[in-house]
Amino acid sequence: MKRVLDVLRQNMQRFVSGEELAKAAAISRSAIWKQVNQLKKLGYQIEAVPHKGYCLTGIAPALHPFEIETGLRTVLFGKTIYYKSQVDSTNHWARELAGQGAREGTLVLAESQTQGKGRMGRSWVSTAGKGIWASLILCPQIDVARLAGITTLTAVAMAQAIFETTGLQVQLKWPNDLVFNGRKLAGILAECCGEMDRIQYFILGIGLNVNQAVTDFPAEIISRATSLKILLKRREDLARVPILQEFLFFLEQHYLTLAANGNAVAIDYARRHSATLGQRVVIDQGFGKILSGTAEALDDDGSLRLRTAFGTSKVFTGDIMKPLPGKVTHGTDSASGGNDL
Ligand code: BTN
Repeated sequence: MKRVLDVLRQNMQRFVSGEELAKAAAISRSAIWKQVNQLKKLGYQIEAVPHKGYCLTGIAPALHPFEIETGLRTVLFGKTIYYKSQVDSTNHWARELAGQGAREGTLVLAESQTQGKGRMGRSWVSTAGKGIWASLILCPQIDVARLAGITTLTAVAMAQAIFETTGLQVQLKWPNDLVFNGRKLAGILAECCGEMDRIQYFILGIGLNVNQAVTDFPAEIISRATSLKILLKRREDLARVPILQEFLFFLEQHYLTLAANGNAVAIDYARRHSATLGQRVVIDQGFGKILSGTAEALDDDGSLRLRTAFGTSKVFTGDIMKPLPGKVTHGTDSASGGNDL
């Protein structure tokens, strides 16, 4: 099917005869007809006219692997792609695939998730076709300590991809959310499997709100969430494929650099576009542990240096809550249900 699509794409808006297509794809003319119908089902607009042949007039808006592979500038990431229109969670599916031996860089995608997962046990609203809901399988061969900043690098790669494809400069909310004027645009959920000192595989789940209108968000998060379409005031939907391709490209570069010599450049990007540094913050670390202080610096390993009443501490993980009024209480529950700030 890919060969047929490639030929049609090279001749976009022009008719290609059935005979020519059959020759180029090395299959029979009836097989061409079947494949064209399959492509149409995937959302490609193809005109079929007797004695003229087939003409591709529109590309599928879906995140179909064919589209992602075409023009992808990576050597490792996205070289194998699994795609479904609906799954429970791409992170679940990626875990299963990793357990079955899927290779490093495998990308798992869905148009919608029925049980999209967020950090700290929250859920992630994943409306069909409106965002990028993806998970990447990584099998890092490096020291676990050097992996701590991987989610920050992922957020940096996503911010760079957004800037490259739309010109919009978003901010990073530590440890790994993308925000614009305080509203959440994207989140990252990293899960790992292995032993303390030897990671078997890592699942990097990425959720980016792309084409939602305000009314697509559930009432509970409407005031805190946003999408690229809303921020850019676009009438038409944005193409998701180039954003995903750029993201994979930037992330692969940061990942390969991480293994080689650290990520000073990417971490510096995170510092320059941080929504957190210099702010007074309250950090929920789960299990009732709450820290509060001023976010003083972002260290090269992605950890946050927090100046508290008792001195400076290095914080590796947590969730920044809105500053609490009055005294910081222990055991505060910040789980408020999905795509949360
Ligand atoms: C967060 O900010 O809480 C992290 C959200 C991560 C959502 C993505 S969507 C694709 C992948 N699959 C999941 O179930 N979750 C992540």
